[in-house]
Formats: sequence, structure tokens, C-alpha cells
Amino acid sequence: MPSTSEHAAVSLSEAAERLRRPEPSRPCLLAEPAGLEEINLDYAATTPPLAAAAEAVTAFLPWYGSIHRGGGKRSKVASEAYESARRAVGRFVSCPVGSSVVFVRNTTEAANLLAAALPDDSAILCSPFEHHANLLPWRSRAVTYLPFTRSAGELLDRTEESLTSAARRGKSIRLLAITGASNVTGEVPPIATLARLAHENGARIFVDAAQLAPHRRIHLGELDVDFLAFSGHKLYAPFGAGVLVVRDDALADGIPLLKGGGAIRYVTLEGVAWTDVPQRYEAGTPNVVGAVALAAACDALRAYGMDRIAARERHIAERLWAGLETIAGVRMLRLWPNVPDRVGVAAFTVAGYQPHDLAEILVSDWGIAVRSGAFCAHPLVANLLGLGDDVTRSLLERITTGETLDVPGAVRVSIGLQTSEADIDTLLEALRSLPPARSL
Ligand code: ALA
Repeated sequence: MPSTSEHAAVSLSEAAERLRRPEPSRPCLLAEPAGLEEINLDYAATTPPLAAAAEAVTAFLPWYGSIHRGGGKRSKVASEAYESARRAVGRFVSCPVGSSVVFVRNTTEAANLLAAALPDDSAILCSPFEHHANLLPWRSRAVTYLPFTRSAGELLDRTEESLTSAARRGKSIRLLAITGASNVTGEVPPIATLARLAHENGARIFVDAAQLAPHRRIHLGELDVDFLAFSGHKLYAPFGAGVLVVRDDALADGIPLLKGGGAIRYVTLEGVAWTDVPQRYEAGTPNVVGAVALAAACDALRAYGMDRIAARERHIAERLWAGLETIAGVRMLRLWPNVPDRVGVAAFTVAGYQPHDLAEILVSDWGIAVRSGAFCAHPLVANLLGLGDDVTRSLLERITTGETLDVPGAVRVSIGLQTSEADIDTLLEALRSLPPARSL
């Protein structure tokens, strides 16, 4: 027979679980604001919230309280809601036993956290086609960049060569850092094979899944990935929380990026005993509202089925890519012509049009929101545009010395939960209707 205090704990824990809506049969986004009437083709930058995430936040707010620090009921329910959110995110990526979900702000913070937690002498092998969030944090360590390749197979060969040659030189790679899906091309590298290569050579693997998690089912155990990050704001839960999933044993002794309360067991004026993963990496009062929202989005997407989402989006993306191929003057940016999988992203240039001007025409004349620029992936975009090292070096120098200029870029279209075939057809019609190329 449970004691009274156990009864109280169970009911508070049930209250915490109920804060997330029952799983809906279909994930739906919040209604658009009146008068917006815009086609959103910019899901890769950020996503609108799922109704389930917004409703979970509303249900939780009256219970908001101090996490893992207070004795009151609010504190107990809020603490349980936070831990329950951790479990929900873990289920979303089939997190294996021995791995933990660390709540962070976003993928950028996740990579910075990991870079700071690795030993100082860690050697990192990084792909060159990354978002800046998965390029810059590693520069606090010895980082080697893989070359750009023209196929996923060639990427595997170059990765294996780099791992083995570093080991032969006695400079073994500790971490391979790579994206789960490119935010510029949508291309999906062969992550499971890369994880195997890393492990065979004594390295761990970090996957930036910011662009993968909203579009494909992730099974961490099957992929055998050590560290994986994604952001709530790209997963229909834009409430300021993201995650880094970590193998506990790999970061058990790491130094936290953020140092402070909640991450420690004991502190003296001379020393500190850090606590265990995951709290070790969550100093300060955490964003429990963001965690609750992210968990609700994970539950809603999982209930609907990530494979159903992937199948629907593949169909719409094929229509987009095939349509773009037929339009004169359009050049799609791609690394690998025959990649086995690709999420619904297309970055392209149109002869005679500056990317920012084209994006402005699309929104003002057609009500289509896209992104233009170099997508926080300057080395990749420079490579895809064929800019040589002399050009990029000169750009860096001119910008560093204070010149204001546009970084060469493209227009990017990216699809998500609510993109329809009609949206794609409108975009293609808009591109076909552009007046003949203007001289730049
Ligand atoms: N990283 C986001 C993008 O690719 C902001 O647009």
C-alpha cells in the first residue's frame, strides 16, 4: 500500500504528464494570423508552432515553478514536467540506455557545449558543408576539414582516409562532426556508415540534426550516433529550447560550458564537484516552458508518424526539384547529384537576378516567403557557387577591414508540414513568369 506521500507524488506526476495534450491524430500548426495570406517556404530557417506545443505551454504556465530546487507543489509538478519532457524527447529519437537528453537553447549552443566539454587536446574531423554552428565551435580545438566531395561514396572514402591517417600519425581523431541534412542542399549524408567508420577508428560522432529531425525518423540506437543536436524552433516548438543527446560515459568528466547552480554537487572557494549528466550541462534555471513545448511537438509528430511526414514531404520535394529543373536560368545548388536521401530544401540562383531581389519579388508580387543569402554556411555556398579560394580570401579581408558588401548567395526554398503541391506550383509559376534576365 503506497504511503500518503507516494500518493501525493503520483498525482503530481500525473498532473505533469497531463500538461502535454493527448496525442493528436494529425499534427496541425497554429492558425495563421488574419491577413497574413503568405505561402511559407522557409521552414528550414524556423517553423511556426504546432497547436499541440502552444497548448502544452498554456496548460503548463499556471504550474510554472522552480525546477529541482523547491518544495512546493508548483515546483514538484514543474520538475516532473521537465523530466517528463526529457523522456518524451528521448522517445522521439529512440535514445538508447546510457544516453541522456540535455536541454540547451538550440543546436548552436549544443555544439558549443560539446566542444567545451571535450578534453583540450581533442582532434576534430569536420565536414566542410556545415552550418556555421557545426564549423566554428570546433576551432577551439585542433580541427581538420574534410574536402568537398562530388558523391556521398567519396565522402565515406575521404573520411576513412582522414581517420586512419590521423591514427597512423599518432594524432587520433576524437570526434567526427557532420550534419544530418544540409540546410543548403537538403542532402542527407550516410550517417550510420559514418558512425561505423568513426567508431572503427576510435572516434565518436556528432550529428547536427537541426534539419533532419523535423523531416525524418531518427533512431539513435540504429544509427549508433554518440551526440545529436536539434532545435525546437525548427521542430514546430519555437519556445527557446533545443537538445543535445549525449552518451553519458563520453561526457561524464567534461567541463560544462555554463558553470553555475544546478550543475554541481558541492562548491568550495577553491574547488567544485560537478554533478552527473545531464544536469552537469544545464546550469542555471532551465527553460522548462521551452522543454515542455518541445516535448509536446515531439509527441505530436511521433503520434502522427515521422515516416508518414517523410513520405508526404518527399513527394512534394520531388515536385519542387523536378519543376525547378525545367525553368530556364535556374541553377540548383547541389553537392551530390545522386544522393540516396534529401530533405525538402532547394537553394538556387536565377540568371540575371540578385538573390535578395528575387526573394523580394517572390514575397511582394506572389506572397511567397523564402530565404536568400548564404544561409549561415558560407564555405559551402562559396563552393557551390564555384568561388575560388582567392575570391573567398579577398571577401574575408574586405569584410574584416570594414567594407559592407553582400556575401554571394542564392535563394532557398524549404518545405514543411503545411506545404502543399499548390504552394510549389505557385512558386514555379512565379519563377516562370519572371521577366527575361536583367543584366546585373
Ligand atoms: N540555420 C537556419 C537556416 O538555415 C537559420 O536558415
